[in-house]
Amino acid sequence: MSRIAYVNGAYVPMDMAFVHIEDRGYQFADGVYEGITVANGKLIDLEPHLDRLERSLGELQIDMPMGRRAMTVVFKETVRRNRLANAFLYIQVTRGVAKRDHPFPAGAFSTLVVTARRLDLTAVKTRAQVGIKVFSQPDIRWGRCDVKSISLLPNILAKQAAREAGGFEAVMYDEDGFVTEGSSTNIWMVTADGTLVTRSTDDNILPGITRATLMKIATELQMNVETRAFTLEEAKSAAEMFLTSSTSCAMPIVEFDGVKIGDGTPGAAAKRLAEAYWVYIEAA
Ligand code: PDD
Repeated sequence: MSRIAYVNGAYVPMDMAFVHIEDRGYQFADGVYEGITVANGKLIDLEPHLDRLERSLGELQIDMPMGRRAMTVVFKETVRRNRLANAFLYIQVTRGVAKRDHPFPAGAFSTLVVTARRLDLTAVKTRAQVGIKVFSQPDIRWGRCDVKSISLLPNILAKQAAREAGGFEAVMYDEDGFVTEGSSTNIWMVTADGTLVTRSTDDNILPGITRATLMKIATELQMNVETRAFTLEEAKSAAEMFLTSSTSCAMPIVEFDGVKIGDGTPGAAAKRLAEAYWVYIEAA
């Protein structure tokens, strides 16, 4: 069965899903995106994802292509037409099609594209049992990483470097040696006394929806959470590290730049949180 994409009002087979070459997304990366986990047919954390989409668009003065209700119908219909129970739903909104010129065009309609691909949640769980290796990369992105912008070239370069070194993710750091975030994930560490530490949501990181949900879950579990920046060195000598995202859930990090984290196996706090997150997904 061919995958189906939603493109500006129509559901079309993937190989016929096109946008115009003068779309501002193609020309300028002038757009934003969202990525939502679908588990057992349910859209996980839909409302905060819509909130973040509206915020990202607002920051760039791009119109919402349709209301939240209508958009939710499109999301569900895209999942349904692709016959997927577990999926990663990808949503991209650009400023639309206009003659190529840098200023915001007058009268352009924003472009909405929605796709869904199978997300193997069982493979995510299996990977979490052994944990992942990560590598550090300088964060060469722009100064508004809080906007979920489609300008992802620096993120792609960082991820590729980590993959070529045999890791799963790149952990990016700023010019002062503080961890910002992963190339497509948020990074956490756990101190010797069991405190979970993750950077506060300043301009330098994307406010991850999974991160926010896990902060709530951790508080419910009476785990101590601190939001502050931490250095690469601090992370490498932490008791545990893990990362969070819609596609990785809570994923233990067992090695960072070749340095074993803790005893080199997934840590107890990360495992506890990951288990609670799976329960959260199942109950959604
Ligand atoms: N990435 N930081 C960055 C730079 C991201 O791109 C993402 C998500 C996250 C985690 O956010 P959330 O928990 O809302 O997924 C943090 C998605 C998975 C992607 O680009 O495919």
